[in-house]
Amino acid sequence: MLANDQLSITHDAPIPTWFHVGGRADRFCTPTSLDDLKRCLEVDPRLRVLGDGANLLVDDDGVSELVVSLKSPAFQQVDIDEKSGRVLAGAGADFPKLIHETVRRGLAGLEGLIGIPASVGGAAIMNAGGAFGQFADSVAKVHVIDRNGKPAVRDRASIPFEYRRSGLSHLIVTAVEFKLTPADPGPLRERLKECMAYKKNSQPMADNSAGCCFKNPTLAAPLRLAGLDEFSKGARVSAGLLIDKAGCKGLRVGGAEVSQRHGNFLTTSPGAKARDVIELMKLVQQRVLEFAGVKLEPEVVIWSRNK
Ligand code: EPU
Repeated sequence: MLANDQLSITHDAPIPTWFHVGGRADRFCTPTSLDDLKRCLEVDPRLRVLGDGANLLVDDDGVSELVVSLKSPAFQQVDIDEKSGRVLAGAGADFPKLIHETVRRGLAGLEGLIGIPASVGGAAIMNAGGAFGQFADSVAKVHVIDRNGKPAVRDRASIPFEYRRSGLSHLIVTAVEFKLTPADPGPLRERLKECMAYKKNSQPMADNSAGCCFKNPTLAAPLRLAGLDEFSKGARVSAGLLIDKAGCKGLRVGGAEVSQRHGNFLTTSPGAKARDVIELMKLVQQRVLEFAGVKLEPEVVIWSRNK
């Protein structure tokens, strides 16, 4: 048994998220070592791990479970081997910074994922991605511990990655090993700039949001929308496009609004409540269902008390 007395737990702590809304954590801890993290699991085996808060909505009542942030040096270490292309990054490392660093060091594989705010661990759990690739494409191994504190290293082949899903959310990711490819940094930098420009052009990057709010749905039946070629059954369609065509841009509930720039971004203004975002999500789902017969599933993770 590990002693819990060295853990520094803060009570009634804010949970920083990119939405800038939502409730607090009854208990919050930033473990400074793997042993510390195991102690946290002894305190609360149901603990919740906070990544960068970039894809997270915390309900206004906050949460009762211990919230753990891995933003301590022990979980932010990055080791890059330029020759082999092997990169080991702690779960708390900043993912966009890691992308810039690998590009600078002439390693290809992650550059298409620029513009996705995340911690390495959060990006792994979500299989973060977009039009230019997904996290799983560059993964070699994922280091995890289970809820009993037992460590394991999972090979890429044993991880059931799917669109925006890793199948690892019951575990705690502690580090990720990437397999990147040595390449000329010049073209990689150009690619990075192109991807960033595409996003700046099409997304409200300066506003408070959690990026895309809904997953892009796979169609159960062909879909025809005015002015566009028919989408076939089984195609994955942009949720933003559907929300836009359903006339939802600019819809508001309290301080939450559907972005005029990209329909899948729900933005918040100062004073907004998490409830505003949740109600707006429901309204958007209802309108898209009525308009296109498609049920949108949230991509954003919602934390609620006792749920
Ligand atoms: N479109 C519209 N109106 C809109 C939004 C999009 O007409 O309001 C059209 C676009 O013009 C384009 C098509 O829909 O023809 C696809 O749009 P986009 O390229 O923006 O891609 P997306 O499928 O909407 C995905 C990811 C984004 C990622 C972008 C670019 C999902 C749910 N979304 O969006 O990821 O940034 O590709 O790589 O997979 C995120 O996951 O948080 C996220 C923002």
